[in-house]
Amino acid sequence: MAKKIALIVGSLRKDSLNRKFANALVEVAPPELQFEFVDIGDLPLYNQDLDDAGTPPAAWTAFRDKLRGVDGIAIATPEYNRAMPGALKNAIDVGSRPWGKSIWNAKPVGVISASIGAVGGFAGNMNVRQCMVTLNAPVMPGPEVYIGNGSALLGEDGKVNNEKTRAVLAGWAKAFAAWVETNASKG
Ligand SMILES: Cc1cc2nc3c(=O)[nH]c(=O)nc-3n(C[C@H](O)[C@H](O)[C@H](O)COP(=O)(O)O)c2cc1C
Repeated sequence: MAKKIALIVGSLRKDSLNRKFANALVEVAPPELQFEFVDIGDLPLYNQDLDDAGTPPAAWTAFRDKLRGVDGIAIATPEYNRAMPGALKNAIDVGSRPWGKSIWNAKPVGVISASIGAVGGFAGNMNVRQCMVTLNAPVMPGPEVYIGNGSALLGEDGKVNNEKTRAVLAGWAKAFAAWVETNASKG
């Protein structure tokens, strides 16, 4: 049966490389993965006082409800200063509360990363994985995808036209489909 997958891009910029690779991922993924992009740019910064008062911002509630209803979560992120971008960390924090109601608990997660640099966003990718372990989310160990020199892999139309990269993304998506199938029912 098809699995609903939330696809989160860790970058907010409109020309994001990671969004372009996420778009390519959707194109090459097997049909059993039904992706839906979930935006994180409108999430107010996490402040526990608002949860404690029972007055969470509507954007937090919508984000939590959306992610609670999916079978898995895929994340495509850059690295900022050798960590994940603040917007993505904020989204992870928002999803992790109120205490005891984390949307990440037992939710299958997969992470890919891309950078204009050679290291392919490795540190940002690992930073997300670190959080997921703490949050008891089964995060797919491999295949690992760190896309370096990302802008060189795009065609003039801004799309990912590099066949090797598309094959890597297809392999990742196939593995992620199996990962979600194995782990989804435990959520
Ligand atoms: C605040 C900031 C910090 C960055 N730090 C890193 C870094 O640590 N390592 C790296 O490879 N690239 C770094 N970059 C460059 C990003 O990899 C590059 O801007 C990339 O295109 C961002 O992803 P996006 O295209 O999806 O927005 C940084 C960029 C910004 C804006």
